[in-house]
Amino acid sequence: MKIVDIKNGEVGTLNKPLSEERQGEVLTLSNEKKLNTNGKSFYVESYGCAMNFSDSEIVASILKDEGYGLTQNYKAADVILMNTCSIRENAEDRVRNRLKDFQHIKKQNPAAVIGVLGCMAERLKSKLLEQEQLVDIVCGPDAYRSLPSLITEAEGGQKAVNVLLSREETYADISPVRLDATGVTAFVSIMRGCDNMCSFCVVPFTRGRERSRNPHTIVQEVKDLFNKGYREVTLLGQNVDSYKWDTKENEERIGFAKLLAMVAEVNPLLRVRFSTSHPKDMLDDVMHTMAAYKNICNYIHLPVQSGNSRVLNLMNRTYDRAWYMGRIEAIKRIIPDCGISTDIITGFCSETEEEHKDTLSILEEVQYDFAYMFFYSERPGTLAERKYDDDIPLAVKKRRLQEVIDLQSKNSLHSNQKDVGKVVEVLIQKTSKKSEDDLCGRNDQNKMVIFPKENATIGTYVKVKIESCNQATLKGHIVEYLN
Ligand code: SAH
Ligand code: SF4
Ligand code: F3S
Repeated sequence: MKIVDIKNGEVGTLNKPLSEERQGEVLTLSNEKKLNTNGKSFYVESYGCAMNFSDSEIVASILKDEGYGLTQNYKAADVILMNTCSIRENAEDRVRNRLKDFQHIKKQNPAAVIGVLGCMAERLKSKLLEQEQLVDIVCGPDAYRSLPSLITEAEGGQKAVNVLLSREETYADISPVRLDATGVTAFVSIMRGCDNMCSFCVVPFTRGRERSRNPHTIVQEVKDLFNKGYREVTLLGQNVDSYKWDTKENEERIGFAKLLAMVAEVNPLLRVRFSTSHPKDMLDDVMHTMAAYKNICNYIHLPVQSGNSRVLNLMNRTYDRAWYMGRIEAIKRIIPDCGISTDIITGFCSETEEEHKDTLSILEEVQYDFAYMFFYSERPGTLAERKYDDDIPLAVKKRRLQEVIDLQSKNSLHSNQKDVGKVVEVLIQKTSKKSEDDLCGRNDQNKMVIFPKENATIGTYVKVKIESCNQATLKGHIVEYLN
């Protein structure tokens, strides 16, 4: 598993949905024959966060309804789509390099339509058509319903753009074509956009205003997934704790804690996870709901970004170190065995050496199970780009990042070592990449567990006794079959 990619400034200690290893993942379908076809095929590659992977499933559903068939071979596809990310400069560079690969396809097959979707499409809009001559379609995250007509225009030789952001679109009525080949875990989008204005972040510009999806469509989608054999859902939003839905009928406001309970009640055999929580909005009610339902996994991703209150203020995170530590204490009090992970940015504008040390000290104080760590990458149009100097030299940003990585690697290993000797419950997700004889899945705290297959099957729960570990995974053997 990839641990360090210092060159690109990105690090993942365990793969949460937007892991490094999924970047550029190609959509596949377990049973392609189910798709009708109008004789045309499409290919989609996804980059960025879980939201984008989930959106690609919505795109697949929209195109399937128009009769397009999904292919994994871009060389033979009529429509080639890239669902892109703008979060850091290197995320965009990766997409630009990939577009160059598609250039020769266009030479061999000039009729192929090439489209850029997602956050880079929204950020660059028609500029993408000027910069990347081979792109035919630019379609932003709220405009996927118009994709079939954009493709038709492009087939007629027109360049086609729709980057309108919406205040209402949640694709609530679209049942996504599930692309997870194993059929055990699925993402369910519960809201879109973000109303926070973290000064470093491009997401409010690429994804628009925050809006929540009708809870009844969420619960219905989760029920359908369970009936199809799925055993884990991850509820997705940039800031899930600010989910809100006012029911007209009984004037009840459904907040995130209530939604979590509604989803957990679909079936006790269905695991429920969520991402991402914002420290300013993560209140005790969500933690009490987690504690009340065994099938809501005891795991919280709570990005801190920096351990220094002045830097947090510049980042416009709207909490300080003391508030954040108060949230950590509440988690540890209400859900004592909760796994906790975080995101860190090193070398933000004007960050001093002392302030960087505060980030190291918060890592020590909290003892995260794992972390996603990045150096600051200035993004055009953000508050930070307009207000502050990106004045920390790249070498310093990278050195600070390395210090954060070194410390977190030690802490992740220590956290895993504490599990050796314990018996943990695992939902089996797939065959291990390294050996056909091993299976793997996650425990409640989201740690990856690998163990010999014996008589177990994917999609069931087992109890595994942990015998060894490294910083990324736990290893053991099955001691009990649960269903
Ligand atoms: N909505 C989520 C985060 C989405 S972006 C939240 O608020 O936590 C995922 C992570 O990317 C962020 O938590 C942050 O650590 C990192 N990130 C965002 N913008 C960045 C930038 N300009 N440079 C470096 N890292 C960035
Ligand atoms: Fe970006 Fe902040 Fe919104 Fe997260 S909460 S998506 S970091 S603006
Ligand atoms: Fe996600 Fe990247 Fe957009 S992290 S919201 S795909 S900028």
